[in-house]
Amino acid sequence: MARQVDEQIAARFPVGQRLRILDVGMGQGTQVLRLARAGHKVTGLESDPEMLAAARRELAGEPAGIRERVRVMEGDGRETGAHFLPGSFDVVLCHGVLMYVPEPDALLAALARMLAPGGLLSLLVRNADALAMRAGLGGDWAGALAAFDTDAYTNRLGLPARADRREALAATMSGIGAPLSAWYGVRVFTDGVPNESSLPVPAELSQIIAAEDRAGRTDPYRAVAALLHLCGVRG
Ligand SMILES: C[S@@+](CC[C@H](N)C(=O)[O-])C[C@H]1O[C@@H](n2cnc3c(N)ncnc32)[C@H](O)[C@@H]1O
Repeated sequence: MARQVDEQIAARFPVGQRLRILDVGMGQGTQVLRLARAGHKVTGLESDPEMLAAARRELAGEPAGIRERVRVMEGDGRETGAHFLPGSFDVVLCHGVLMYVPEPDALLAALARMLAPGGLLSLLVRNADALAMRAGLGGDWAGALAAFDTDAYTNRLGLPARADRREALAATMSGIGAPLSAWYGVRVFTDGVPNESSLPVPAELSQIIAAEDRAGRTDPYRAVAALLHLCGVRG
């Protein structure tokens, strides 16, 4: 994922340009810190005060030069207009958030409005076209059959969540002025790996990452990935 974001940034902006980046639903701020360390000016917006506190703790451990490029704020992604002027960011990330938003159109429109012309919108969503894969590959046939005609699923924490279909999301992205320009599959092979598994040895880990990276940008594999990374560009 991080590599895909960097690749899209490199393809669209001059090398070394300090970009204004907004991460909506930043969680603990992993991408916020990574992109700030890369030299960008990053704002993280997060609705959960506990997550926000965790991000602030992480940020406190950074050198002053990085801290001063980061702003983290409590707020709802659907209300970006209350916090920022339209067109004030070069890149807007919204990763792993749409699953928890029942009616995502307002959120998507609020994200697109924040983009300057030529700005990049990066969305990471659950793939509704491949919901039967996890159950099917795990031998849960009833679960696989139930997963075909729905966009509802249960996440790893047992919470109800919602998946998106690529074609529908692409149509929405066109409608909000940030049409789809590139897309990747994420977690083609590794979605079934249990959370509690220990990390493989480094040589194996680099092979897994290489195989996932290749599949995530190759048809037909990417179409059945657990997650989709959709990138749109503001016209
Ligand atoms: C699964 S986490 C993803 C965190 C991070 N973006 C990542 O990719 O690791 C989803 C985060 O989105 C936040 N969130 C959910 N709905 C939101 C909303 N409407 N506005 C802002 N944040 C939201 C949650 O509180 C949570 O921290």
